[in-house]
Amino acid sequence: MDTTRDATNAGSRRSRRRRRNGRVVRMTLLAGVFLLGGCAGDAPSALDPAGSGAARVANLWWLLFWISTAVFVEVMALLVWALVFRRGRDTRVRHGQPLRFVAVAGAGLPLVILVAVYAVGLRDLAALGHGPGPQAPTIEVTGHKWWWEVRVPGIDGATANELHIPVGERVRVRLRTADVLHSFWVPQLMPKTDLIAGEMRETWLQAQRAGRYRGQCAEYCGTQHAHMAFLVVAEPRADFDAWLARLGSTARQPETDAQRRGQQAFVQASCAGCHAIRGTPADGRVGPDLSDVGSRWSIGAGAVPNDGGHLGGWIANPQTVKPGAYMPPQPVEAARLPDLVAYLQSLK
Ligand code: CUA
Repeated sequence: MDTTRDATNAGSRRSRRRRRNGRVVRMTLLAGVFLLGGCAGDAPSALDPAGSGAARVANLWWLLFWISTAVFVEVMALLVWALVFRRGRDTRVRHGQPLRFVAVAGAGLPLVILVAVYAVGLRDLAALGHGPGPQAPTIEVTGHKWWWEVRVPGIDGATANELHIPVGERVRVRLRTADVLHSFWVPQLMPKTDLIAGEMRETWLQAQRAGRYRGQCAEYCGTQHAHMAFLVVAEPRADFDAWLARLGSTARQPETDAQRRGQQAFVQASCAGCHAIRGTPADGRVGPDLSDVGSRWSIGAGAVPNDGGHLGGWIANPQTVKPGAYMPPQPVEAARLPDLVAYLQSLK
């Protein structure tokens, strides 16, 4: 009788252990999938810095990584030594030796490491806080739910979700929020700066090589937080100056009949109530300025690519693309939609 019960108990213990092992394997696989997901091909990484700000952060990260690795290896080696070689030995304190070891390896060494890392962190923090000089270009960025308004002091126009900087130069970026907390982050150029209601924050950007660097809101700000991306375009000084000039001039005039009809539809429909196009009667300030919308990299702050099909779908019903966005579906006649798309695409 007892033997049967023992056998049953042993069997249920085995099956519990199997279930537990299965769970561990599944969790490990899942963690691996999440880790690999973070390494997606086109995802910008703070460990691939392209500017002096991000380089400081990446160097600090590697310093911490190697210190942690050394400490981990040391602790594991001591553990193996204790379990394998000291097993069953008399571990009573003799001549104060183990105490000295605990004081040095367990308290002294960690204290030295932590103080050193803290000092390096303070040095980097001070360097990151040291902004560009008064002559540096300044760009003002305002966070909205869920897009970025971009302006340059002294220039009348605005654009959205895209800012340009001259290669090699430090550019001051002033940050405000129009509603809730957001966070301005360009992983390859600079660590995060939070946008706090009622405050003007400041950071700077510098890129060592020309390129397009993706930025992202890094503070959860509501339903479409994930679709609050932007692009930093680092380009030669002449191209940057041309961008400033475009920002200050009126939008391109329509050249074809379709574009002219599109402009008319835009100005007469509800579009003009929320959006501005410089040089036309449309001067709404609720949504993004669309004077250069044809040249932007995306629609809806990184929600979809900027092409005719997506643009038409977005105008007809943004809610299918970015649910919760403040732009309502537009009652545009189906026959007018291609004209509207043609006009907006011509605004470069
Ligand atoms: Cu804005 Cu998250």
